[in-house]
Amino acid sequence: MLGGVRLSDAFIARSLDEIMFWSRIMKEHSLFLKLGFNCDDTELIQEADQFYQVFEAIGNKAQSFSLQTDPQQIKQFNSEVHQAASMIWAYKRKILNLLLTCKITGNNFPLLVDHTSREAAYFANRLTELNNGQLQPLPAAIIQENVFFLRIMADHAKFIGHLLDPSERKLVDQAREFSHDFDQLLYQAVDLESMRPQSETVPILDQFLDENRVSVKSLRDFKKTARDLIEACRIKSIIHPLLADHVFREADRFLHIIDAFEAQLTGNGNRNIVLDDH
Ligand SMILES: [Fe+2]
Ligand SMILES: [Fe+2]
Repeated sequence: MLGGVRLSDAFIARSLDEIMFWSRIMKEHSLFLKLGFNCDDTELIQEADQFYQVFEAIGNKAQSFSLQTDPQQIKQFNSEVHQAASMIWAYKRKILNLLLTCKITGNNFPLLVDHTSREAAYFANRLTELNNGQLQPLPAAIIQENVFFLRIMADHAKFIGHLLDPSERKLVDQAREFSHDFDQLLYQAVDLESMRPQSETVPILDQFLDENRVSVKSLRDFKKTARDLIEACRIKSIIHPLLADHVFREADRFLHIIDAFEAQLTGNGNRNIVLDDH
């Protein structure tokens, strides 16, 4: 029992939550990559279509499970999804290689391909952690998790800045400011990471989360506005409406993760989190 919740329930709930969120993200990556290829790169397009179907099927299967499902079955499902996430990771790295060796061109930025591969690796890693019995990222992983997501957010700001029409000067400026803001936050996080474990005190981590939360909230709101403007065809860009929504959802996910860490920090009401190295 864990706070009145059966451990197996928590395992199933966390597994299905991660899979439903990230399998949709992986499915959308397949679509975005496909749209960015030249139309004669038919093999890459076919592979993208296959991954789209694989992750759509995974999402549907996840929907069919519930807390009543046998945990062993969920464990098996997690392994299958891990396999699919590893395969799409390899596919993305293959595309990155083709781009960087100038064997293909198109509209997929290399940084976008790298970015989506980092998200696939994150997903695969979460599934491994879940199957090893680690339900939440460990407090010791707060800094690491923030380093991952701050970089993702900084990339998003850069993608938005590059995909908006250059005539949208005000919005491009705003995106550039977000990019700078998140680059700074990322470096702060990297500095804290190198100061581990001494930097892992409750007050320092609490302040770190507070500062990140403020910026993530405002980036999330900016993305939401951009998404609504794109959907209503009020601004000029080459941003697919689904991409605008996709990056909004990822920011929202990061906010929830920050809140969960905050709850862990304050809810524990003690300083166990400080790794004792003296
Ligand atoms: Fe993504
Ligand atoms: Fe992303």
